[in-house]
Amino acid sequence: MCGIFAYKGHQTEAAKLVFDGLKKLEYRGYDSWGVAWKKDQNIQVHKQVGKISEASDEPLLDQGSSIAMSHSRWATHGGVTQENAHPHVSSDGKVTIIHNGIIENYQELKSELGPHNFTSDTDTEVIAELISKHCKEMDFESAVKKSTEELEGRYAFIVMHQDDDKLIAARRGSPLILGVGDGEFFLASDIPAFLQYTQQVNYLDDDQLVVIDTEARFYDLLSDSEIEKRTITIDWTEEEAQKGDYDHFMLKEIMDQKDTVMRAINQNEEEIVKIAEYIKNSSGVFLSGCGTAGKVCMAGKYFFSVISEKHVSFAPSSEFPIYHHFLTPESLLIVISQSGETADVLEAMNVAKEKGAKVLSLVNVQGSSIARQSDFSLLINAGPEKAVASTKAATSQLSLLLLIAYAVAGKLDEGKKLLIETAAMINDMLNPRYLEFIKEVADEIDHAENAYIIGKAANYPMALEAAIKIQEVSYIHAEGFAAGELKHGPIALITEGTPCISLIAEDEVKQDIINNTIELKSRGAHIIGVSAFRHESYDHWIRVPDAGVASPIVNLIPIQLLAYYLSTHRGLNPDMPRNLAKSVTVK
Ligand code: F6R
Repeated sequence: MCGIFAYKGHQTEAAKLVFDGLKKLEYRGYDSWGVAWKKDQNIQVHKQVGKISEASDEPLLDQGSSIAMSHSRWATHGGVTQENAHPHVSSDGKVTIIHNGIIENYQELKSELGPHNFTSDTDTEVIAELISKHCKEMDFESAVKKSTEELEGRYAFIVMHQDDDKLIAARRGSPLILGVGDGEFFLASDIPAFLQYTQQVNYLDDDQLVVIDTEARFYDLLSDSEIEKRTITIDWTEEEAQKGDYDHFMLKEIMDQKDTVMRAINQNEEEIVKIAEYIKNSSGVFLSGCGTAGKVCMAGKYFFSVISEKHVSFAPSSEFPIYHHFLTPESLLIVISQSGETADVLEAMNVAKEKGAKVLSLVNVQGSSIARQSDFSLLINAGPEKAVASTKAATSQLSLLLLIAYAVAGKLDEGKKLLIETAAMINDMLNPRYLEFIKEVADEIDHAENAYIIGKAANYPMALEAAIKIQEVSYIHAEGFAAGELKHGPIALITEGTPCISLIAEDEVKQDIINNTIELKSRGAHIIGVSAFRHESYDHWIRVPDAGVASPIVNLIPIQLLAYYLSTHRGLNPDMPRNLAKSVTVK
């Protein structure tokens, strides 16, 4: 969802600083952007429609300010217009705000505020107006606190006042992180915005507020009391968060998989064994996540079944609350999330916690909301993932889940050995010749309107994931199916030349899916076989190593590359798919 970034400190070109930092958050939203900065008790705002990466910093140069805020928008309320872009300013010109989230009662607040010259259709402008109203009766800080009592919904907002040099920010439900430098402060929805300046951070929790003056003071909004926050040192580096020589983050992150699988399984073994024991002893284990992470969960269900003979249920997080009847204090919910901020996942966790169940999370972002709100949390250690399409996070999540499934079976060493071999296989796969070959396959099918992907067992969720990857970055209509389901309906979609991808492993269901592939071929499909062996039904054979039960991990690699090249061949930017944002912090 939207990206927010603000600065207060000793640097004197704050407008330019937040503009540059905001560019690093563009994956959070790219409809429009804006910057506000304060100089000589005067707040100026510049905003425009379009991508910040394509914008000039000209209007922000040499502004001589030390306090500024910026926002990149993923539209929720109101269309993509300059008026709806943030920052928003109260009608008296005193309060300037940026916001990520949704204020659910903004219509009621709007009517209570009475006739005003609202210039946008957003829910955010109402917060500015509300704070400004309270400022007429109390100081700025108290006015912001009072306003939060009246807001319903989710927010992370940062606000400044023309007559007060503080920067104030509050959070409920949307991410907000304070970066602490030497005499300077950074507030952002994601760490990469300020990583070049500091690795010291404080995560705000829900219903917390921070006031930045010469130092940062934190408050709990529910008890209205000052609180202490623990400073965490982030182990990401600025270099990891850059795309370097790659054209796109997506390609860089696919290539990062040369070592991210090893990083995912590099865990404290005692902790893994402890978690495995917990899983074994839980009655009712659930896996949940959204989108790609949800498909990983589905594969996890298979891993637990075949490796550790443990029954695990799966529901996408947006559907999970419906199953609350089955949760007890003995249940365990395992959630998977790259960002650690996905609203549907947080909602699923709340439902589980209300029933007394425990939560284990697998996340990529250290200190994220999901990590902090879990009973146990493991980091997948994939490093920053900035492309909207999840790639390296998915293979890392699969690897760690597989390792845990082996630990539950009491075979941690065997699992580790398999995954070390898998990591080496991926390292070999990602060579220039392999990339060139996948590019050629993409060339053959980039004109297609439809593409279908089939898989069986753990490769069935990978077929679903392949469809997500192709849809989101190439806009080709792609669908994944359980191979055996074709004959029950979807095979009617196949016509001469329809691209169909078969994800096949060297496992006990191999012959079944080969038969399904032949059925597709006989209806005229153009078959792309992803497997360790060649088969006569294939028009193209994308070779993958035989990774045994880890086959979903290696099978994803060519799929991610194929989706990437389908996108670039169609002249699209895979890092910024239309209508999408990297971290989905609204329900
Ligand atoms: C697709 C993709 C999304 C995410 C989903 C969950 O490529 O990235 O489907 O997987 O929005 O996000 P996280 O993992 O951050 O919870």
